[in-house]
Amino acid sequence: MGTVRILFLLFSLYVLLLMDASIAQMPGFISLDCGGSENFTDEIGLNWSPDNYMLRGKIANISVANETRRQYTTLRYFPADNNKYCYRLNVISRTRYLIRATFLYGDFDNNNVYPKFDISFGPTHWAMIVISDANTIESQELIFLATDPTISICLSNATTGQPFISTLELRQFNGSIYFNQYENQFFLSVSARINFGAESDAPVRYPDDPFDRIWQSDSVKKANYLVDVAPGTEKIATRMPIDVSRDERPPEKVMQTAVVGRNGSLTYRLNLDGFPASGWAFSYFAEIEDLGPSDTRKFRLVLPGNSDLSKAVVNIQENAQGKYRLYEPGYYNLSLPFVLSFRFGKTSDSTMGPLLNAMEINKYLRKSDGSADVPTLAALTAAYSSAEWAQEGGDPCLPAPWSWVECSSDPQPSIVSIKLSGKNLSGPIPVEFTKLSGLVALWLDNNSLSGPIPDFSGCPNLKIMHLEDNRLNGDLPSSLADLPNLRELYVQNNLLSGKVPSGLLDKDLVLNYTGNVDLRKGGNGGKHRNIIIGSTVGAVVLLIATITSCILMPKGKKTRKQGKFQPSLTSQKLVSTLGDTAAEAAHYFPLSEIEDATKNFERKIGSGGFGVVYYGRLEDGKEIAVKVLTNDSFQSKREFSNEVSLLSRIHHRNLVQFLGYCQEDGKSILVYEFMHNGTLKEHLYGLLTHGRGINWIKRLEIAEDAAKGIEYLHTGCVPSIIHRDLKTSNILLDKNMRAKVSDFGLSKLAVDGASHVSSIVRGTVGYLDPEYYISQQLTDKSDVYSFGVILLELISGQEAISNESFGMNCRNIVQWAKMHIESGDIQGIIDPRLHDYDIQSMWKIAEKALMCVQAHGSMRPSISEVIKEIQDAITIEKGAETAREGSSDEISRHSAHSSLNLVSLDLVASEHYLSIDDSITRPAAR
Ligand SMILES: *[C@@H]1O[C@H](CO)[C@@H](O)[C@H](O)[C@H]1NC(C)=O
Ligand SMILES: *[C@@H]1O[C@H](CO)[C@@H](O)[C@H](O)[C@H]1NC(C)=O
Ligand SMILES: *[C@@H]1O[C@H](CO)[C@@H](O)[C@H](O)[C@H]1NC(C)=O
Ligand SMILES: *[C@@H]1O[C@H](CO)[C@@H](O)[C@H](O)[C@H]1NC(C)=O
Ligand SMILES: *[C@@H]1O[C@H](CO)[C@@H](O)[C@H](O)[C@H]1NC(C)=O
Ligand SMILES: *[C@@H]1O[C@H](CO)[C@@H](O)[C@H](O)[C@H]1NC(C)=O
Ligand SMILES: *[C@@H]1O[C@H](CO)[C@@H](O)[C@H](O)[C@H]1NC(C)=O
Repeated sequence: MGTVRILFLLFSLYVLLLMDASIAQMPGFISLDCGGSENFTDEIGLNWSPDNYMLRGKIANISVANETRRQYTTLRYFPADNNKYCYRLNVISRTRYLIRATFLYGDFDNNNVYPKFDISFGPTHWAMIVISDANTIESQELIFLATDPTISICLSNATTGQPFISTLELRQFNGSIYFNQYENQFFLSVSARINFGAESDAPVRYPDDPFDRIWQSDSVKKANYLVDVAPGTEKIATRMPIDVSRDERPPEKVMQTAVVGRNGSLTYRLNLDGFPASGWAFSYFAEIEDLGPSDTRKFRLVLPGNSDLSKAVVNIQENAQGKYRLYEPGYYNLSLPFVLSFRFGKTSDSTMGPLLNAMEINKYLRKSDGSADVPTLAALTAAYSSAEWAQEGGDPCLPAPWSWVECSSDPQPSIVSIKLSGKNLSGPIPVEFTKLSGLVALWLDNNSLSGPIPDFSGCPNLKIMHLEDNRLNGDLPSSLADLPNLRELYVQNNLLSGKVPSGLLDKDLVLNYTGNVDLRKGGNGGKHRNIIIGSTVGAVVLLIATITSCILMPKGKKTRKQGKFQPSLTSQKLVSTLGDTAAEAAHYFPLSEIEDATKNFERKIGSGGFGVVYYGRLEDGKEIAVKVLTNDSFQSKREFSNEVSLLSRIHHRNLVQFLGYCQEDGKSILVYEFMHNGTLKEHLYGLLTHGRGINWIKRLEIAEDAAKGIEYLHTGCVPSIIHRDLKTSNILLDKNMRAKVSDFGLSKLAVDGASHVSSIVRGTVGYLDPEYYISQQLTDKSDVYSFGVILLELISGQEAISNESFGMNCRNIVQWAKMHIESGDIQGIIDPRLHDYDIQSMWKIAEKALMCVQAHGSMRPSISEVIKEIQDAITIEKGAETAREGSSDEISRHSAHSSLNLVSLDLVASEHYLSIDDSITRPAAR
């Protein structure tokens, strides 16, 4: 009986322990519910605790439809001042962690401009948090190797609104996960972590991933704007266990699903936040299909512009040494673009198409060294750990200095000023101050400091010392006289004694030592106490000294702050007239500055629906385009400033950069970067054609650039933006003839979720989507229509509307081109100025253009599909170009006439042509 009972007890204990282990979250997890009030455990088993040790900032409760998770219903926000606000977390040195910060705005401050602020990891700028939707959670993740026992995560004002934070999550890794040779100099900033073939939209995370990484489902397009999925792509899944116990240990659940390319290819295009940059990029594979005895699955990665990478062949089962086992090839250091297109293509001898379970791309983020005086100030603040001023956390100077510190503007800043007046300091003057070699000003007045004045000869730059109103005793050290730059020394009202060193008296210096009962002037030892030196020369010296110090001071204190916070009178005026902060999002140009830059609107460079555009040059030499809006463009100032703050949030290399605005004297003005090569229209038809015009490949590149800009408006902005007025005069060319789209954003935003917005029809005849014109229902397909017209113009060199060119009864390029293309007569529409082109690429674009100008929006392709086609055409054209140039390699044989072959002649099909030396860029198989 006894043994049975004991066994039973042991068994129960065992079960209990097991249960306990399954409930308890991983050690090394910290989940902070910012603004929360008590501990709780969420539905997935994470233990959240409030950030109530954070004494700064304020708490807000928010409510957002469909977001019931408790940690997101509260947040903590901070003033938008010059300070930074830091969370300090304990970590274990030499251990790797994931840190995740999330932000759900929820309109907590009812401001009509979304916040935009900075987050930093210690001294390193981590990211700018840009809120673009009140109900969407923004998230940033960083993988790091801890080098100290604590880390600081700090928020600070960047542009608009108040910095805030919803959660801060720290997750500890195991063993050598994410080990890399760059980890001492770089963090890994998580850009994409995608679970392919996911069974639902929900991300996979804890407890499926014991480290609580978040694996986005590939069916949620918004995550990385995953598009361009190849035909024949199928999702597959298994319930078999997968051996994932190596490398980065992706969760089993993620590895149990995959996509396969039944037609031989897997293709994807996705956005990588923070890129172009160097990144860490790995794919996760496990064979989860049953292959027949004669089946093989071999494939290669194809990255445009990175043909070297395509040499290595993946054979999952062989590489992983078995089925249902992880194989994780990848690159530790790969340059990747913002928009990444990649393809896995089967090798010619493989029977099965490629398979992909998951992938992860992280950006290298260089660690900042931090400011020069970190150890010294750490020792100081440690000694006063309970004082509020000692708890600001993070680096003393970076990215914003502590409130009582000023720093130099060097790349590695040092401390130039300390202001601790009236902070209740007691005990001796901390020796740390004497170690700040860059110190210029020291304010320790109005404290209870006692003991002697230490030796400050380690601070040769000291100019101003305020030690008055303390309880310092002992001598006034003669070493002070040796400080070459000392101009002001205040030691009045202390308990100093002895003689004032003659060196100090002889020095050109403001010195106040009144109120020290036992301190007397040197030399004659007379009864004169309370003397200011040079009393005979008297006021004059004092005056000069004061003046000099006033002139010198700003120089000494020259920190980055100064320029940043210079308020311009006019912008203050504007803010007060608007009465809100909307305008702060964008840079304000005073009218006088614009008048100077444009020499009073001297040179007109264009005009359009919104107004007239002038050339300008700012004082710093930057060239600008100044658009003076026609007066009735905006009904109210409020509307104007809202539009402007929206504009300032749209950034893409293929969109003309918005620099700022001005609204004075009844003028509403927008300032853009100046585009040196004018509009596409001018190059196609205008004076800039130089007889010959731009060649076909250049036209294709311009089309690609413009389409990418449009794609960004459609898919990269939330809510998405419909341009509404695309035309060749709105496509501008920079110095290098790269194209950017202009005149975007000054229109109603597309309503998220709904498929159209109804508004008064706007657009330009010839480019206007007929469906939109009739129904007045605007969709992104209206832009696709206009873009189709632009493609036809690029092919033909004809204007969209013309009275002469198109022959009888036809004034419209669409009708005319359609007629020719559909009857197979493409030659009849090709611009006679074009000579070297490949007819196949011309066909591709012509056919796509016709798709774009279909009568019904639903039949038109998305702009992303159009980009794909343009890129294919460019590939064909480049191949053909090589051939024309007479190089006789493998490609040229295929090219000149039947470039159809070229389309399929990618790096996969022709192995012999590729495999020169596999070893050079073999992926790191771990
Ligand atoms: C909340 O949890 C933290 C650790 O997660 C613990 O230190 C603290 O004592 C808990 N507070 C309460 C009130 O239970
Ligand atoms: C937020 O909600 C909690 C609980 O309902 C309440 O105690 C607290 O006062 C609220 N805080 C603010 C700032 O409204
Ligand atoms: C909120 O949830 C409802 C029902 O689940 C859904 O119809 C709606 O689209 C969701 N709204 C948002 C903004 O996610
Ligand atoms: C926040 O930073 C922006 C940009 O530097 C600045 O214009 C603004 O005045 C700052 N806000 C405050 C309250 O200092
Ligand atoms: C972490 O490592 C330890 C020891 O190597 C191992 O027992 C444990 O299972 C690992 N944890 C996870 C989540 O892999
Ligand atoms: C993909 O393969 C399927 C069947 O194998 C075929 O019906 C389909 O046309 C193919 N699609 C493409 C684009 O090749
Ligand atoms: C010197 O300090 C005393 C006491 O604070 C003050 O009354 C006096 O005006 C000061 N003298 C000068 C010249 O600043």
